[in-house]
This record gives sequence, C-alpha cells and structure tokens, in this order.
Amino acid sequence: MTESLATRITLEVDRSEPGKPSRFEVPVPAPTSRVLDALLYVREHLDPSLGFRYSCRAGMCGSCAVVVNGREALACQTSIGDLGTSTVRVSPLRALPVLRDVMCDLAPFFDTLKRAGAAIRPREPDRKTLRTMPPAEPHRAFIEGQNGCLTCGACFSACEWSATREGYLGPAAMNRVLMLSLDERDALGMSRLADVARDSGALRCHTLGNCSVVCPVGIPLREGMQKLKGLLATMDVA
Ligand code: FES
Repeated sequence: MTESLATRITLEVDRSEPGKPSRFEVPVPAPTSRVLDALLYVREHLDPSLGFRYSCRAGMCGSCAVVVNGREALACQTSIGDLGTSTVRVSPLRALPVLRDVMCDLAPFFDTLKRAGAAIRPREPDRKTLRTMPPAEPHRAFIEGQNGCLTCGACFSACEWSATREGYLGPAAMNRVLMLSLDERDALGMSRLADVARDSGALRCHTLGNCSVVCPVGIPLREGMQKLKGLLATMDVA
C-alpha cells in the first residue's frame, strides 16, 4: 500500500437504480485487501442491496470481473493497495447489459463463443480413451500459451468494437477458434477460420491490444489475433 493511501477509502459504485447511495466509506484492514472485500463490506454493513457477482474468490472462476478505476479487472484479485488511490471507482463491464449495479448479463458474451463455433469437434468421436497432446505435436506450445481463458468477459469489455459493432465476436471467441484450428484433435481444423474472417470478426480487429492488457490470466490475445490474421492471409479468405 502506498504511504498516501489511508486505511479507509471512498468506494464509488455505479448504481443502476436511481437514488441508491453510490459513495461509501470503507475500511481497508490490510494492504492486500481486495476490491471484492470492499464490496462485501458495503453489502454486509452499509447497503445489502448492492449488486455484484463473485464465487471462488481465488481468481479462478472469472465471475467477479468489473471495471476498477477505468480498467477491467477481477475484483477478488485487485489489491486496493496496488491501486494507490483513496477513492476507488467500481463500474460494470462495458458492452454488456447491466442486471443490477456492477453485475452484468454475460449472455451476449457467451453467445460470441457459440456464434464463432468455438467448441471442439473431435476428430475421433468414438474414441474411448483420453486423447492428450504430446509435446512434439505441432502448435502445442502456442496453444498452451493461449489457453486458460476464465470467460470473465474482461477482454470483451475492453475491446472498442464490442460496444460499437453489433455482432462483433470479440477476443475470447476468436482466440478459442484459433486454438481449435491448430489443434490436431479437432476435425474442422483450419476450415474454422472462414467463420471468423468477416467484418464482425478478425477483419474488424485493429490489434490495439486492450484485450491483452486486461486479461487477468495474461493470455496474449493481441498476438493471437496477429497470428489469426496471418493464417487468414495465407488461406486467402481475408
Ligand atoms: S470470484 Fe472467482 S475470479 Fe473472482
């Protein structure tokens, strides 16, 4: 915690219902106290109607993604001390409908995965044993680097096109399609890429990289998009 940060902060929360309080004085018991701890304090002691979502409190489920001081983050992993501000503003993810306060409806985000066809189609559908990916398999290292998405929606929120381009697939869905297209276990392979070579997909992405910056597990989404565009160019579909 920086020296200037008091042991209390002002927590500002976007409220969806007019007239509800949006500023709360919240104690910060330790430098490692998280934004989620502050939200829980408000709900427990000051306003039980405050709406937010969480589950694992360990950075694994992705359900607590919000915008903290203007940047997408997991509330359970964001240390108030690291923010270094005496006022902390929490807003809902962008480009998604707000259910209540900072809790969003993630259905449009999950729909991007469906629309991109981002589910494996097994090459050996009748196989009874687990098909692993040996170290020597081509693209294994790359796929491992792109893997681990929490489907928290942070990248979708941070991408400029999600809110402005209706039907835009977004970084998480296209990253998933890229991984599957390179995965030897998938029956569709590179033919998957034709589905994302459209104006609401890879052709719209400007690879600005906001998605990579906010990804809570550090997936290099921007690099993935560059690779995806490179593959599309060789397929002559872009
Ligand atoms: S509560 Fe699960 S990632 Fe934050």
